[in-house]
Amino acid sequence: MSQAQTIPELMGENDVIDLLLRQHALIRDLFDEVERAAEGERDEPFRRLVRLLAVHETAEEEVVHPYARRKIDGGEEVVEDRLAEENEAKRLLTRMEKAGTTDPAFPANLTTLREAVTAHARAEERYEFVRLRAETTEAERRAMAAGVKAAEAMAPTHPHPGVESAVKNLLVGTPTAIMDRVRDVIRDAMGGKG
Ligand SMILES: [Fe+2]
Ligand SMILES: [Fe+2]
Repeated sequence: MSQAQTIPELMGENDVIDLLLRQHALIRDLFDEVERAAEGERDEPFRRLVRLLAVHETAEEEVVHPYARRKIDGGEEVVEDRLAEENEAKRLLTRMEKAGTTDPAFPANLTTLREAVTAHARAEERYEFVRLRAETTEAERRAMAAGVKAAEAMAPTHPHPGVESAVKNLLVGTPTAIMDRVRDVIRDAMGGKG
């Protein structure tokens, strides 16, 4: 899609596993950014973090987990464990978004969220991605990357001229509303095959 081509951080990633690993790194960077921001300036980086997490987790749920269930040994259990972790993080994210970034509990919640998201990402990398890479073809991973890229185009981690305003219109509201919107875009991009 043309919007994706305008976003530098998307260049050159055609393997879905590489793409997701890179998103894990971007998520770490955004946590750093939110943590470092002064209380009055947390809102903007936190919105980007909410968007990126919504996009990343929804892409995994729509594109990658279904594949892992079928393709890897013990895939059902691996995916159920990951979904439980994702749901826990989503509940906390939703509470934080509702309370706002000036909530006195925000820094402590951010630490809890970061720990949960980091542990979850590590478990994905160890138990899911390594095996998925071993048990899929390059063509399969390229096909999955298309869905993840379509989602990522909705959540630039740094504002890009002309893209940010379009993104804002699409990805506003609660984390749940954002995820619903992202899910629609991924399903369109995957042509109903996801
Ligand atoms: Fe995940
Ligand atoms: Fe992940």
